[in-house]
Amino acid sequence: MDCDKAYVMGLMHDIGRRAGIKGILHIFDGYDYMMSIKQEEIARICLTHSFPIKDINPFFGKYDCSSEQKEFLAAFLKNSEYDNYDILIQLCDAISLPNEACIMEKRLVDVALRHGLPDFTIDKWKAFMNTKKHFDELCGCNIYTLLPNVLENSSVNLV
Ligand SMILES: [Fe+2]
Repeated sequence: MDCDKAYVMGLMHDIGRRAGIKGILHIFDGYDYMMSIKQEEIARICLTHSFPIKDINPFFGKYDCSSEQKEFLAAFLKNSEYDNYDILIQLCDAISLPNEACIMEKRLVDVALRHGLPDFTIDKWKAFMNTKKHFDELCGCNIYTLLPNVLENSSVNLV
């Protein structure tokens, strides 16, 4: 993998958030913007980063897009063959808080506290855990050991 490419994808995957506070619409805003500047690979990441399962229904958040966008996304995910860049950004999204990396369980609980526990929660959590396992195997180590202060960032605040 090209680490510079992965880094830029990580920085830009939520570029759709520049359009304001939105639910799933942020992935389309990011996709449309990246396509408009001919950055197709990043546009793809904008769509795939929230879907470790290639199904549009397991999304933690508000479905504020149009029915046409929903159909487009369903077809896009169905016809996509995820590569390591898609999976890496999904993983990074699942172990990142606003200012730091943390263990996945902390991030997933953080999302659950904001969005509840829909029926698909366990399947999606398992899919995210498989992304970590995939990169643990690729890296030959627990990826948490490669990131700064993951354990410290994941401690429980008892105050
Ligand atoms: Fe996002």
